[in-house]
Amino acid sequence: MPRKLFVTTALPYANAPFHIGHMMEYIQADIWVRFQRMRGHEVHFVCADDAHGAPIMIAAEKAGKAPQAFVAEIAAGRKPYLDGFHISFDNWHSTDGPENHALAKDIYLHLRKEGLIAVKSVEQFFDPVKAMFLPDRYIKGECPVCGTPDRYGDSCDVCGSVYAATALKNPHSVLSGATPILKSSEHYFFQLSSQRCLDFLKRWTNEPGRLQPEVLNKISEWFKVDEHGHGGLADWDISRDAPYFGIEIPDAPGKYFYVWLDAPVGYLASLKNYFDKGGAKAKGESRSFDEFMADPAVEQIHFIGKDITYFHTLFWPAMLKFSGRKVPDRVYVHGFITVSGEKMSKSRGTGISPLRYLDIGMNAEWLRYYIAAKLNAHVEDIEFNPDDFVARVNADLVGKYVNIASRAANFINKRFAGELRVAGDAGALAAEARADIAAIADCYEGRESGKALREIMAMADRINTDFDAAQPWLLAKDAARGAELQNVCSRALIGFQRLSVLLAPVLPALARRVARELFGLERDFVWSDAEAAPMRIAPYRHLMQRVDPKQLDALFEAPPEAAAAATPIALPPPGGEAIAATITIDDFAKLDLRIALIVACEKVEGSTKLLKLTLDVGEARTRTVFSGIQSAYAPEQLVGKLTVMVANLAPRKMKFGVSEGMVLAASHADDKQHPGLFVLEPHAGAVPGLRVR
Ligand code: 2FM
Ligand code: ZN
Repeated sequence: MPRKLFVTTALPYANAPFHIGHMMEYIQADIWVRFQRMRGHEVHFVCADDAHGAPIMIAAEKAGKAPQAFVAEIAAGRKPYLDGFHISFDNWHSTDGPENHALAKDIYLHLRKEGLIAVKSVEQFFDPVKAMFLPDRYIKGECPVCGTPDRYGDSCDVCGSVYAATALKNPHSVLSGATPILKSSEHYFFQLSSQRCLDFLKRWTNEPGRLQPEVLNKISEWFKVDEHGHGGLADWDISRDAPYFGIEIPDAPGKYFYVWLDAPVGYLASLKNYFDKGGAKAKGESRSFDEFMADPAVEQIHFIGKDITYFHTLFWPAMLKFSGRKVPDRVYVHGFITVSGEKMSKSRGTGISPLRYLDIGMNAEWLRYYIAAKLNAHVEDIEFNPDDFVARVNADLVGKYVNIASRAANFINKRFAGELRVAGDAGALAAEARADIAAIADCYEGRESGKALREIMAMADRINTDFDAAQPWLLAKDAARGAELQNVCSRALIGFQRLSVLLAPVLPALARRVARELFGLERDFVWSDAEAAPMRIAPYRHLMQRVDPKQLDALFEAPPEAAAAATPIALPPPGGEAIAATITIDDFAKLDLRIALIVACEKVEGSTKLLKLTLDVGEARTRTVFSGIQSAYAPEQLVGKLTVMVANLAPRKMKFGVSEGMVLAASHADDKQHPGLFVLEPHAGAVPGLRVR
C-alpha cells in the first residue's frame, strides 16, 4: 500500500533571501521526499513564506513599503534558489494568504471553545513615540546584573543573565530612542499548562518513533518542575497589540495573533492552497484537503532546525489536538550548518551565498552530495569545509562513480554496438545486490544519508575493483576475448545503473540524465530499477566535471557588486556606536581603575560565557572577578598577564559567587556581525595596583 505523506520544511521568514542553512534543511527534506516518491509513495511536500510579525513590519516600514509588498518581493526571489538546488516542493505559499487567515482563526475558535484561552493583563514596555509595544529585541539598556550598557531586553551576553525587559536600567527604544513607559494591556494566552495539555503532550511526545531521543530528552527538561514549583510548561502568550502585521483575533479588536501562532498553521494553509488549485489531483490524490487530512493513514512530517523545537513539539501539536485536528506524526530535527574554522573566517570570509554558488557555475548537485554525506538522523551541527568539499566531491562522485561509466561505456559502444551482455544470469547479479539495496533504503528512510552514501561508495569501490582486476584494456587487445570484455564492461554498467538509482534522491538531475540519455528510459528512475539489468546503452556523454579548488576561492570572495555596495557612503560610528554623552573630569575620577595581575583563571562550571579570574591588585588579598570572556580566551592565555580592572565597583553576588570588580575589554557594539573581544593590557613596566588616570 502506498503511504500518504504530508511533508514540510520550516517556513522561512519573508524578510531576507535564503542562506545556506535554509538550503541544508531543504536538501535534507528533499532527499527524503524523493526517496519516498521513488518507492511509489504519495508525497505532498509544501512550504511557504512566514510573512508576519514585528520584525517584518518594522523592516517594511524602514524600506518605505507596505508589509504585503515587502514580503511579496522576498517571495518573488525564492524560485532561483529552489529550482537551482533541485528542491522539489509541490507548493510554495504564504502565511498571509486567505487560507491561513481562515485556518488560524478556526483553530483559535476551537481552542477557545475548549476553554483553553485565557485573558490576562500584561505590563510591558511601550514606545511613546512609535505608539507601540516593544518586543524585547527592540529595547536596550544596562544589564540589571552586571551593568553593561546597551544590552538587549531579554538577556545579557556579557554576564549571561536572562531577565525581563522591564528589569533593564535606563532602557531605551531601539526604534525611536525614546525612554519606554510601562503600560498594561490584555493578552490572550493558550493554556499550555493545563492538565489536559500536559497529559496530551506527555503522551504525544513519548509515542515511540515520534521524536529523536535527544529531542525527547530536551523536552523532558522542559516538563520538569523543581521542588519550588519552578519550571514546567507555562501558558503561551499568543496575542500582540496593534500595530502588528498579522492575523486579527476574532472578537478582539486591535489584537493580532503572535506570528508563531499562525506560522505553523501555514503548513496546513499551503497544503490547502495546493489541494484547492488541483495540485494534489495531478499527483493522483482525488480527495479534498479536508478529506485528506481526516484520513488517519496520512502521515504528517515536519523537518525543522533545533532552534524551533519548542514550537513544533509543544505548541503546535497541542494547538492541533485541541482544535480537533490531526496531530503531527513525526518531527525531524536537524542541527545547524556552520561555515567556520579558523581558515575560513580569516582568509575566506564567512557564510556562503547559495545564489553566488550557482552564479559562479558551481554544480548544485555537488552541494547536495556534500551535505547529504555529512547528515545523519541526529541533531548534530555540520560544518562546510571547502577543502573537504573539493576532496569528497572529486574523489567520490567523479573518481568513483562517474568514472565507471566513462571507462566501461566506450568499450561497449565501440565494440558491441551498445549491447550489454553478461556471462550467465543477469538476474543473479541483482539478487546479489538485494541486501545492500535494502540496507541503503533503510538508511534513506531513517535520514541516515551519510551512511547511505558511504554504502553506495563502497559498492562503487567493488565495481571499480572488479573492473580493474579483469584488466579490460588487455582484453580489448585480444580479439578472441571479446565475450569476456563485454561481460566485464556490462557488469560495470549494470552496476552503474544501480548506483545511479541509489544516488537519485541526492543527485536527481544527474540520475535523470543517466536514465534517459545513457539507458534510454523514457522516465526517471524508480527504486526497483536498482535491481534491473539494462540491455543496452546509448553513446556516453560526459556526466560531471570535477570541482576546481579555484571555484571555492571565488565562492568566498565578495562579488564585485557586493564589495562596491559595501563601500560606506557615510562612515558608520566608530565601533558601531556613537560616542557617549560628555562627562566631567569629576565623573571620571569616580572610577578607580587599577592595574591587576591575573594570578589564576578557570572556566566556570555551568557557564559557557564566564571565566573566573583571580586578580592581584597590590592589596593584601586577591580578588575574584567573573568576566564574560570565555568565548574569546582560554584560561591559560590569560594567566600571568596584566590587565586593567574597575577596583571600586560594588561587589555583586552572581549565581557562581561574588564578583569583586570588572576587567576591561573592547568589543564592537554589534558583536554578532563583528565578533571579537579584547582584554586590555598595559605597556611593559606597569605593576599591580597602579591607578589608571
Ligand atoms: O524560525 C523561523 O525561521 C520561522 N520562520 C520558522 C517558522 S516554521 C513554521 F512554524 F512556520
Ligand atoms: Zn550582564
